[in-house]
Amino acid sequence: MVNLKQIHELPPILANQISAGEVVERPASVVKELVENAIDAHSTQVDVTVENAGLKLIKVVDDGDGIDADQVQTAFLRHATSKITEQRDLFRVRTLGFRGEALPSISSVADVVLKTSTGAMGTEVTYKGGKFVSQSASESRKGTTVEVRSLFYNTPARLKYLSSPNTELAKISDIVNRLALSHPEVAFSFTSNGRELLRTSGRGDLLQVLGAIYGVKTVSKMVPIQSEEPDLAINGFVSLPELTRASRNYISLILNGRFVRNYPLTRAVIDGYGSKLMIGRFPIAVINIKLDPALVDVNVHPTKQEVRISEEPKLGHMISNAIRQMLATKQLIPDATRDFLRNQFPAVPMIILQNLPRLVPSRKGSLYLRCLLRLRVQIWRMMIQSLSSKETI
Ligand SMILES: Nc1ncnc2c1ncn2[C@@H]1O[C@H](COP(=O)(O)OP(=O)(O)OP(=O)(O)O)[C@@H](O)[C@H]1O
Ligand SMILES: [Mg+2]
Repeated sequence: MVNLKQIHELPPILANQISAGEVVERPASVVKELVENAIDAHSTQVDVTVENAGLKLIKVVDDGDGIDADQVQTAFLRHATSKITEQRDLFRVRTLGFRGEALPSISSVADVVLKTSTGAMGTEVTYKGGKFVSQSASESRKGTTVEVRSLFYNTPARLKYLSSPNTELAKISDIVNRLALSHPEVAFSFTSNGRELLRTSGRGDLLQVLGAIYGVKTVSKMVPIQSEEPDLAINGFVSLPELTRASRNYISLILNGRFVRNYPLTRAVIDGYGSKLMIGRFPIAVINIKLDPALVDVNVHPTKQEVRISEEPKLGHMISNAIRQMLATKQLIPDATRDFLRNQFPAVPMIILQNLPRLVPSRKGSLYLRCLLRLRVQIWRMMIQSLSSKETI
């Protein structure tokens, strides 16, 4: 029986596993932490490889600063970091990591091999289930390679809680995409089971990254936005109202190079479209926000994706206005089909006419939808008749 009155400090491996419960929720969290370390180390090229949706292998190779041989084991200690030193650093964090939790957390729930070099002689360390196994000399290629195998092998409950391999892979892909969007100046590659799923140029061109992720056709329907105030700046790309998705997941907010989740700012993006979006549809958007780090508190949650922003309402207005203004200029372009429909069917509301091609009623569909289908067929018939009669004239 456990003596509940006996207070004692937990052994480091157990403390790390508890911390891993928050930091390493799923394979995608490991990818996020390792890639963020690579970015913090000033890498220009980051290659991510996974096998079996990350459960068999997650490998991240970077060409960054590397870690000195005599520091490598310290990197695996809890709360050990090179990124902050004193209390006031916590209120002006400029790096993606700062908690000194990722490596000890990951290594407590997996087998990890880390090879690193600062340019001279390299070093390789191995950890199994949080326990140090070995350190030896290795290749001297500048940069770091981390290989994580058998993730969650010693935490069966966590393993069981994971979704299907396809869902986990989609979550990894989503994280890599957002990291690539946040850092167009870094060349990313992402390979799953030998298949390359993403490659970006690293030339600092956000549009190129968007094209690599969503495809060139999609990107041709995105427009740039920009706005600046003395202590605040935003820029990015948003989709025209005709290009939408069924979830708000395609709205990416990047605050000082960090992908963040923030409901009020996501709402501000949607608000910028006013009534131009169909109900239940959302735009694709990437909004880069530059803000004095002193105005942001990133120490809210272990995953560092939630932040508190002191200028949040002002920022929200700025985003909505920038989108509204950009879309207002795009509205000036005449739409031949829209004008044609308006002339032919003055009594039918424009919103119905515009969305007719998208409504595909099923056989079991409601009477309303079947009526719309009939109306749609009629419209197209009239359009064809009108065009062919113009041609014969
Ligand atoms: N790819 C890398 N290249 C260079 N140094 C690295 C790399 N990965 C980790 N490090 C070093 O190891 C330290 C510990 O990494 P770890 O990810 O555990 O903590 P952190 O990045 O400081 O904070 P956080 O837990 O918020 O990520 C880092 O502070 C950094 O000095
Ligand atoms: Mg880190």
